[in-house]
Amino acid sequence: MVKTGVLDWVKGDDGVFRRQWTRAEIRKTSARRYQLYVDNGTGELVARGSAVTSVDKAKSQSLVMPLTLAERCDLYKQAFPTWVAPWIDHNRINGMWMIGADYRNKSKLYGAYPNGYLKRVESMVPDLMSGNVLHLFAGSLPPGDYIRVDAMRDDQRDPDVQCDAQALPAHWTGRFDLIFADPPYSKEDATEYGHPMPHRYTVIKECARVLKPGGWLIWLDTQWPMHAKVTLPLVGQIGLVRSTQHRVRLISMFERTAAAAP
Ligand SMILES: C[S@@+](CC[C@H](N)C(=O)[O-])C[C@H]1O[C@@H](n2cnc3c(N)ncnc32)[C@H](O)[C@@H]1O
Repeated sequence: MVKTGVLDWVKGDDGVFRRQWTRAEIRKTSARRYQLYVDNGTGELVARGSAVTSVDKAKSQSLVMPLTLAERCDLYKQAFPTWVAPWIDHNRINGMWMIGADYRNKSKLYGAYPNGYLKRVESMVPDLMSGNVLHLFAGSLPPGDYIRVDAMRDDQRDPDVQCDAQALPAHWTGRFDLIFADPPYSKEDATEYGHPMPHRYTVIKECARVLKPGGWLIWLDTQWPMHAKVTLPLVGQIGLVRSTQHRVRLISMFERTAAAAP
């Protein structure tokens, strides 16, 4: 039987999520294809593909495989079983979230994250959350197990690093597993924040520079921002509706490839 859905995800002592199989066995079916069986008495086939050809049997006991996009959707479904879950179409995550006008977010900052937004996206990326996380355009986000970057500091905004998202620190190259970004959506918005409207593509190029290969950028905006498909292809998009008379937003998810940054 081919097992689908989320397998045994276990958070290790090092904080990294891994699928743990005891004595998994890789059988090559051709020079470039493999099948992975779990030796748990059932002879169950759990994966097949072409990506892990170099992994030998000894290493298969602690084989680390990234979560698939479908598994990420399943994780959301498990966390929020009564809400419409994202789905896979054309090898991407697709979805539409009706988040509701919930005013429990105590932030007084104009444009603060709608309540529940972060919990929803975080549920899909537990593996990346256990690595280095960056919040760009962090605004009023409270301190946490992440680095907050914002250009401004005042009674609402207290970033860990105060800098322009268009020019992140040089030594951050290849550092982050996950970036959340919530930029101003327009020049009018930027005026509210007291800082000129950033050039989206410049910020996105900086994100590609500071992400590790396999790392994700989750960008909330009212548009699909321009991105380089070689370094930062789109892996998902989810529409975000708050309530009547609110702007409709789009969550775009990008995955950093191993290609060199331009
Ligand atoms: C939409 S708000 C983010 C709100 C945040 N999600 C929250 O929950 O509070 C955008 C933030 O981007 C910051 N910002 C604007 N231009 C910036 C830039 N070039 N670099 C870094 N931060 C910038 C603003 O100061 C503002 O706090």
